[in-house]
Amino acid sequence: MPHKDELEKKIANRTAKCAIIGLGYVGLPLAVELAETGFTVYGIDKSTDKVDAVNRGESYIPDVPGDAVRTVLDAGKLKATTDFSIIRDCDVVSMCVPTPLNKTRDPDISFIIAALEEGIAPNVHQGMLIVLESTTYPGTTEEVIVPAVTGPDLKAGENIFIAFSPERVDPGNPQFQTGNIPKVVGGITEACTRLATLFYRSFLEKVHPVSSAAVAEMVKIHENTFRSVNIALVNELALMCDRLDIDVWEVIEGASTKPFGFMPFYPGPGLGGHCIPIDPYYLSWKARSVGFEARFIELAGQVNSAMPLHVVQKASDALNSAGRALRGAKVLILGVAYKKDIDDERESPAIDVIDRLLRKGSEVSYLDPHIPVLDVGTCVLEGTEMSVELLQGADLAIIITDHSNFDYKLILENANLILDTRNAIKSRHEKVWRL
Ligand SMILES: NC(=O)c1ccc[n+]([C@@H]2O[C@H](COP(=O)([O-])OP(=O)(O)OC[C@H]3O[C@@H](n4cnc5c(N)ncnc54)[C@H](O)[C@@H]3O)[C@@H](O)[C@H]2O)c1
Repeated sequence: MPHKDELEKKIANRTAKCAIIGLGYVGLPLAVELAETGFTVYGIDKSTDKVDAVNRGESYIPDVPGDAVRTVLDAGKLKATTDFSIIRDCDVVSMCVPTPLNKTRDPDISFIIAALEEGIAPNVHQGMLIVLESTTYPGTTEEVIVPAVTGPDLKAGENIFIAFSPERVDPGNPQFQTGNIPKVVGGITEACTRLATLFYRSFLEKVHPVSSAAVAEMVKIHENTFRSVNIALVNELALMCDRLDIDVWEVIEGASTKPFGFMPFYPGPGLGGHCIPIDPYYLSWKARSVGFEARFIELAGQVNSAMPLHVVQKASDALNSAGRALRGAKVLILGVAYKKDIDDERESPAIDVIDRLLRKGSEVSYLDPHIPVLDVGTCVLEGTEMSVELLQGADLAIIITDHSNFDYKLILENANLILDTRNAIKSRHEKVWRL
């Protein structure tokens, strides 16, 4: 039987064995979702801590309940390992490894290359489907994955199938999770797209095929650039409103009453997470390679990355109004995760704000029920517990992340001075400063 037909059959009857490389915020939910629909899944990660946790039936990703991991583990449908040789026995491999920026803010695809060179290339075989899910610049699948896994006996679209399908998971979003977020798929050839589409349709609600891997890569970056640019626009609006003494939140609320042609975005202390502050630079880097300057991306990056500085300026103004200076002031940071109700502090603007406050000589403590320890580069801080004494003892409390489980009434009643960067305290009060 030709490889394509055999793989199609294995996918249709769920006997295809699947490997997920990288068991993080993207890979673990995907592995569990896939295993729940009856596929046998091997989760491969370099971290022995993560592999051991999964094999004990524990979840370290808040959106994935421990029960869900235990159920598929007990059913023999999920197993985690650090051993890449299992790929030799697998029909489908999905890559969910990190794609950060390097020090000069250019794409760092070293995790993809390592997974390819150490994991997939030594174990690749005919009749496989390989899908890259990590966000990356258009052209990566064609230029990096294809040469690493094809050869004289392995021809893309004939006996090995290669595609890109961006992950769109939104940590902390109770409405949309891996299973019900539509999946975009683009293959290296038509046969690759068809097979990858068939695979995702076998366990996800909605799949949208596109004509190439590069289109699928661009779709993901367009989505995240759209967010970055619109957040920058509203951040700039907030700065203008501040100068003009207009309430930006009221402006957004008013504009949101328009039932068409407007979508609200909200200002904040800056961008965070492994996606929005990073992904647009993958595109601007690629654009530069063809002599194109991505001006919106660069400008949005400048506006968004200046927001922590604005927060510190506002903190200084707020303290000044109470006859205090940043130097020596006790500043309590409320929330350090990059967005509400999640445990991820990667690229969080809180880190930049804290670092700047420490450099100015403030005494900084923080509180975040989701993040017990925070590395701010120059030092590591331990989170503190909420109490009336803590709030009363601080000269200024800065709300960086508007976690749902903060008691805002308690904060308002007991803090001496508040800088609310998220409009978490809806009521207007003379001790509350806003962006
Ligand atoms: N976090 C999100 O909300 C989100 C959403 C959509 C897309 N993405 C994209 O998905 C990709 C993964 O992001 P994430 O947030 O899941 O990252 P993560 O850091 O949470 O997880 C990545 C995992 O890969 C493992 N890993 C790294 N190199 C490896 C290797 N060579 N072999 C095996 N395992 C390896 C790490 O140990 C880690 O467990 C990125 O490209 C990101 O941009 C992330």
